[in-house]
Amino acid sequence: MSNLSFSHQEIKAFRSATPGVRQVVHFNNAGAALMPEVVGNKVIEYIQHELNYGGYETAAKYSSEIDTVYSALAKYLNCTPSEIAIMENATVAWGQAYQSIPLEPGDTILTSISEYASNYIPFLQLKKRLGVAVKAIPNDDHGQIDVTALSEMIHDRVKLIAITHVPTNGGLVNPAAKVGAIAREHDIWYLLDACQSVGQMPLNVEELGCDFLSATSRKYLRGPRGVGFLYVSQDKVSQIEPAVLDLQGAEWKTKEIYTARKDARKFENWESNLAGVVGLAKAVEYMLELGVERIWARIQHLADYLRSELVKIPGLEVHDLGEVKCGIVSFTSSTKVQPLKAQLHEAGFNVSIIQPSYTLLDMQARDLGKMIRASVHYYNTVEEIDRFVDFLRKI
Ligand SMILES: Cc1ncc(COP(=O)(O)O)c(C=O)c1O
Repeated sequence: MSNLSFSHQEIKAFRSATPGVRQVVHFNNAGAALMPEVVGNKVIEYIQHELNYGGYETAAKYSSEIDTVYSALAKYLNCTPSEIAIMENATVAWGQAYQSIPLEPGDTILTSISEYASNYIPFLQLKKRLGVAVKAIPNDDHGQIDVTALSEMIHDRVKLIAITHVPTNGGLVNPAAKVGAIAREHDIWYLLDACQSVGQMPLNVEELGCDFLSATSRKYLRGPRGVGFLYVSQDKVSQIEPAVLDLQGAEWKTKEIYTARKDARKFENWESNLAGVVGLAKAVEYMLELGVERIWARIQHLADYLRSELVKIPGLEVHDLGEVKCGIVSFTSSTKVQPLKAQLHEAGFNVSIIQPSYTLLDMQARDLGKMIRASVHYYNTVEEIDRFVDFLRKI
């Protein structure tokens, strides 16, 4: 057993702390992972308190617990609590970030081939409204961002590099730190979508070299839905303003004057889902207690095993790209995707379907239709994978 492995006892413990594993084999962790019991209970406890004592009064009582979300996320990402802003979800975080960057007609945004629809569509809007150019960085032979090609695409009108770390449609982990080194070298704004990498792997914003990192709670962090966050580097925060500032982000001083906060929280809205926030805080603390390196090692081990078993099934094709692969496994089979998912669901296996339009550039480039996405987490087991593979083999 390597020092990154969890013991049988530990596996038993975190599985028994996850009520969902007693109902289903959950391979939809890239959709929304199963919450640990402590996380779900915290959300319920918070809402119960609101029910009895009122929303504002509950927020006051829980204020120090609400604050732990900033310190816990900062510990995970190697930044300061003042560099974290709580958002509704990753899409809002991404939007808040790119809209704050002063772009002008003729500027260029560089993004990735495997970009998520909700990241790319707003750039097409910017192209239409503002006249910016939007270019996708080509992939290398591993199917990940080609950093040499990226270097060659840099010119003085490139104002933003905005890419996804782990795309929605497969196991690829893009070389985000190498992209960050290029962005820093040329002093270009760098926005990293870490929506699907947070909670799976160690993340260090210093090493990644990003100015912004956007993410959600419900996926590999195992937090509740309806909450996410944005990291904004302290070095850059004073140079930008969110597209919309409210009284959380700024103070109204006189008839004509407001002053914006000096930290990342100027990107927040005053109103937020605080039950979700305390749940997210718990989820991050829970993950840090288990150890992110160990979580990452187990996820990779389980996903590698799943891929190695799936490729043995005739008619089934695995489509994951990249030199480094994560817990997301995408595949097609000779059976149609929709009925296959329904059959799996019936048999107690949760997976999701990837539509080509979610990551259009990549899916068109690879001529792929709908795929099944089976995304594993550390609380899954080899035995669950064996049952899943057996079931697929039989049908
Ligand atoms: C890569 C990627 N980025 C962003 C998002 C959007 O996240 P959210 O639904 O929290 O806004 C998703 C959601 O699936 C995603 O897969």
